[in-house]
Amino acid sequence: MRRVVFNQKGGVGKSTITCNLAAISAQEGKRTLVIDLDPQGNSSQYLLGAQADELEATITDFFEQTLTFQLNPRTTAEFVVATPFKRLAVLPADRRLEELQGKLESRYKIYKLREALDELADDFDQIFIDTPPALNFFTRSALIAADRCLIPFDCDQFSRHALYSLIANVDEIRADHNHDLQVEGIVVNQFQPRATLPQKVVQELIAEGLPVLEPYLSASVKIKESHEQAKPLIHLDPHHKVTLEFVALYDKLDAAKKKRTR
Ligand SMILES: Nc1ncnc2c1ncn2[C@@H]1O[C@H](COP(=O)(O)OP(=O)(O)OP(=O)(O)O)[C@@H](O)[C@H]1O
Ligand SMILES: [Mg+2]
Repeated sequence: MRRVVFNQKGGVGKSTITCNLAAISAQEGKRTLVIDLDPQGNSSQYLLGAQADELEATITDFFEQTLTFQLNPRTTAEFVVATPFKRLAVLPADRRLEELQGKLESRYKIYKLREALDELADDFDQIFIDTPPALNFFTRSALIAADRCLIPFDCDQFSRHALYSLIANVDEIRADHNHDLQVEGIVVNQFQPRATLPQKVVQELIAEGLPVLEPYLSASVKIKESHEQAKPLIHLDPHHKVTLEFVALYDKLDAAKKKRTR
């Protein structure tokens, strides 16, 4: 299963959701890979801590390799880095990735990520792709490479309107490039049950027939702590309320997958 976590809006929880679902997947016995496609490298920092600043190669080198002829190109697996967490690996990103975008785009490298993931199919049971906050070459590559799309949503009225164009963009990529791509659901993040506005916004999404997933993820300072310590929630505090929400969300996605394959 290949999932992309995507929303053009910044700061809605893409990296947090990618890394925490991936960490739970690994903890539950699946060989799991996180692909960081964001030059900010937040997922790489989250999973590797200080080690993320000393990497010998990153996804930038992977993409760079597609631009120049190589006699002995590195395999995709050679760019994958083990994390301190069992069964969890990452294909990390770094700042240099940003500069490559124009070249990759003008030379039609949009299918390279998909090919790379095909190459890794026997090595990983689950792949989670974190994306930058834009609909650009990297997010399009990810939407072409994935079969499921999770959309984090921050309960904001403006973001609600943006959801329709986001889903229309996903529909277009499905029609033009990737018939297997499905919107798996909208992940409600930083939900405050006692505030009336977020309740109303989420109810409106449901009434409009959008696939809102449950449970909703609470706002919690544990998440900041988890980023600071470079430790996903399942390792930092496995019994915390917000950790259990992530586990329940993961189980729901997993159960839906099993139902589909039965
Ligand atoms: N449920 C939550 N409770 C509290 N803080 C949260 C929660 N989810 C995310 N955050 C915080 O919000 C900030 C943005 O989260 P995150 O980096 O996951 O978003 P993003 O969508 O990946 O951002 P970007 O678009 O910049 O890549 C981070 O500081 C994170 O710690
Ligand atoms: Mg991010």
